[in-house]
Amino acid sequence: MTERRMRIVASGDYLHTMGRETPEAMGFGAYAAASDRLDLDFLPAGPQTAAVPGAGMAGADTLLMLGQYLRRPDIESAAATLALVARAGVGVDKIDIEACTDNGVLLFNAPDALTEGTAAGALALMFAVSRQLVAMDRLTREGRWDDRAAHRGREMYGKTIGIVGPGRIGGELIRLVAPFRMRALAYSPRLTPARAAEKGAEAVPLDTLMRESDFVVVCCPLTEETRGLLGGREIALLKPTAFLVNVGRGPVIDQDALVEALAARRFAGAGLDVFSTQPVTADDPITRLDNVVLCPHAVCDTYELRRDVLATTVKDLLAIADGGLPHAMVNPGVVDTPRFRGKRDALVARMRRPG
Ligand code: GLV
Repeated sequence: MTERRMRIVASGDYLHTMGRETPEAMGFGAYAAASDRLDLDFLPAGPQTAAVPGAGMAGADTLLMLGQYLRRPDIESAAATLALVARAGVGVDKIDIEACTDNGVLLFNAPDALTEGTAAGALALMFAVSRQLVAMDRLTREGRWDDRAAHRGREMYGKTIGIVGPGRIGGELIRLVAPFRMRALAYSPRLTPARAAEKGAEAVPLDTLMRESDFVVVCCPLTEETRGLLGGREIALLKPTAFLVNVGRGPVIDQDALVEALAARRFAGAGLDVFSTQPVTADDPITRLDNVVLCPHAVCDTYELRRDVLATTVKDLLAIADGGLPHAMVNPGVVDTPRFRGKRDALVARMRRPG
């Protein structure tokens, strides 16, 4: 029976973050429902700073990845059988994509399943920072009712939002803020005016976006092109009343420059879900600022989103088992390589064998 099922191992950060929850409560129902074809095992618990060990993937057809690293030596050591890496999320910056390709491993992710949840998370951070919700909560608990004037909020109505990296998430965020009658600006290096207009935004140079936006929202992935995109010079362009939100990746912003500007109150505040180094430690200077709202890379992590992401990976894996392809391939070029084809064809044949 096991022989005819796809052998999948899930990265150790699943068990690490599962706590007392069951896999079903964490959204693994779709795997349970497909257990006649998909055989899922969890690798031993480990934090997101760890890499998936090659030995843990030995003999597996598929790695299901949450947020650990995936490095070349581990890919190589498992490459005899490993044909697929399903990234249960969107970012692939912790995965050695080239090593996947070199070893005939198809990497795919689930961007569509994250779009709405992450855009809503960005909106939550926009509200939290502009209405100073965390400070207001603290004042109320401490009985400092009369200090509330020092934390007066700012409106979103009629303001300008600037999206850095207007992909799926940025586009959805523009849709979400439409009732606030916001003007939307967008920047990415190759964004055309027509493409921006399709998303309801105006394509502008990065400096213009930084200068004119009341809410700058970073949604872009981490690539060599986006690393350090917002440095001290760009941050200095922000209006004193502007807010900066980051739901993309921490290293897109120079965090030292950001902390310095926030400490000097050169702009109004930041809502951050991602950081240059994760996890953020309690002694990090960013934790001492009172004009930031911080989230542990979890603002989009809802039960519904996890369920939808995992259901998407199941759909994709079953499609592959039936000879098809997943929705969102990161290294599609690998599909036509003999190494991938050999493993995929053997897997499909094995899964089709009459029992
Ligand atoms: C979340 O940050 C993801 O990349 O899936």
